[in-house]
Amino acid sequence: MIAVTGATGQLGQLVLKHLTNTTDAGTVVALARNPDKAQLLKELGIEVREADYSKPETLTSALTGVKKLLLISSSEVGQRFAQHKNVIDAAKSAGVELIAYTSLLHADTSPLQLAEEHIQTEDYLKETNVPHTILRNGWYTENYLASIAPALANGAFIGSAQEGKISSAAREDYAEAAAVVLTSDEDQSGKVYELSGDESYTLAELCQIISEETGKTVPYVDMPEAEFAKALEGAGLPTPLAAMLADSDVGASKGGLFDDSHTISKLTGHPTKELRELVKAFI
Ligand SMILES: NC(=O)c1ccc[n+]([C@@H]2O[C@H](COP(=O)([O-])OP(=O)(O)OC[C@H]3O[C@@H](n4cnc5c(N)ncnc54)[C@H](OP(=O)(O)O)[C@@H]3O)[C@@H](O)[C@H]2O)c1
Repeated sequence: MIAVTGATGQLGQLVLKHLTNTTDAGTVVALARNPDKAQLLKELGIEVREADYSKPETLTSALTGVKKLLLISSSEVGQRFAQHKNVIDAAKSAGVELIAYTSLLHADTSPLQLAEEHIQTEDYLKETNVPHTILRNGWYTENYLASIAPALANGAFIGSAQEGKISSAAREDYAEAAAVVLTSDEDQSGKVYELSGDESYTLAELCQIISEETGKTVPYVDMPEAEFAKALEGAGLPTPLAAMLADSDVGASKGGLFDDSHTISKLTGHPTKELRELVKAFI
């Protein structure tokens, strides 16, 4: 039995879709903090169990009979390590045989502040001695696609990534790679996958594609981290999120979101989704 946490989230739903494409839905369990949000998953014949990272009492029973677990990192930045620890402890006591954890690309050397909670989680997995696989996910292309509309409205795409190359991939690609690892007959214990898209681009190159596909010139305007964070706040983002996004862009300028290992496509057996096609579809 394979269980997936964060099953009602964007990545979780895609992983479940790929799992049920290749395995019987009866062998898959969706773990959600709010099972009421999982109606569609239930309709696909997937068992849904309540599992809240912050409520350990929900976790042990949720993991009963589970052989492999995909722990999708929590979206509650700042609380994540404590939450992940709860899940890992519960998985260990439930006798889960393999935990796959969605970490961050090159988490051990990453200049992004976001890496901190991922490294704490990776270290805890090692400490607890539960067989585990690390899926170090790069940036979602969707993070930048979300900036297309404001860039068109404002006449510029802003950021702090300078000339940093970004090897992002669509959530769909990360989800498929995760499903391949979870259903593999090979022993996945101890493996660390650096997952990224096949293409690498700077934000100026992304703007070139956006300009060509929309017919409107959208220049890339690079700015200092504090100025970018302020602009994001001005656009309505909460202060911590604005700061985190600005820090991540600075991390990208230092190469933190670059990787040319093509690990996703090696796992899935086909190229990752093309940046231009994703931009076109989004537009
Ligand atoms: N690589 C990247 O570019 C990138 C970007 C953003 C995020 N991430 C990381 O990747 C993860 C998955 O991405 P995503 O796009 O699928 O994010 P998402 O759509 O926000 O999904 C996050 C999932 O975590 C669940 N969750 C949050 N707190 C929880 C708790 N206390 N107990 C149980 N479940 C909890 C949410 O439950 P609900 O459905 O009930 O809300 C949701 O299902 C994120 O959580 C974050 O750690 C990566």
